[in-house]
Amino acid sequence: MARGKAKAYKEQSFDHLHGLAGISDDQIAEHLKLYSGYVKQVNALNEQLAEMLGKGKASGKDPEFAELTRRLGFEYNGMILHEYYFSNRPAAEPAPASGSGLGKALADAFGGIDVWRTDFQAIGDMRGIGWVILFQDPATDRLTNHWISLHQDGVPAGFKPLLVMDVWEHAFMRDYKATEKAKYVEAFFRNVDWQAVERRLHEAAAVRPAAA
Ligand SMILES: [Fe+2]
Repeated sequence: MARGKAKAYKEQSFDHLHGLAGISDDQIAEHLKLYSGYVKQVNALNEQLAEMLGKGKASGKDPEFAELTRRLGFEYNGMILHEYYFSNRPAAEPAPASGSGLGKALADAFGGIDVWRTDFQAIGDMRGIGWVILFQDPATDRLTNHWISLHQDGVPAGFKPLLVMDVWEHAFMRDYKATEKAKYVEAFFRNVDWQAVERRLHEAAAVRPAAA
């Protein structure tokens, strides 16, 4: 399908997200506004690029065309990763059950659920803005934790995101100080929908709310 004929992306509703442990409704509301901006930017960029293509202005040597194209990765992943991130729920268990498929897969990959979480949190403690993502390699089923700078740098192509944690400062600075990221990470773990993570583990393709 040509880019210009594709349907625009729709902003997903995350109205269920209130009353989280350690992450305020105001923090979530502000964060959702940022997410909304990414959806709008993806649609606008696609329209602008389709228009340039239609007018015969698609050229790698055109600075406008090149800059708009470079922004696609940032805006697309800004939209996509937030859709995974907001698929959490209040009052969840702090870790998956050890007998669950996810618990077993994490134990296989890391030696234990606690070991996996130590690694995931250590990555979250890295300096800089970005994301921590538990990925599954669909070719081998191997699970690995990754740091993603901004929204796009470091995403292994074709890997399935299973658990996505936003560690940009905008994700927590209404509730916590810049130096209190570790408290936010603890709060994040009190609101994970482990059943959703488990579903992603077994789904053949990467599925997020936009696909529903
Ligand atoms: Fe964010």
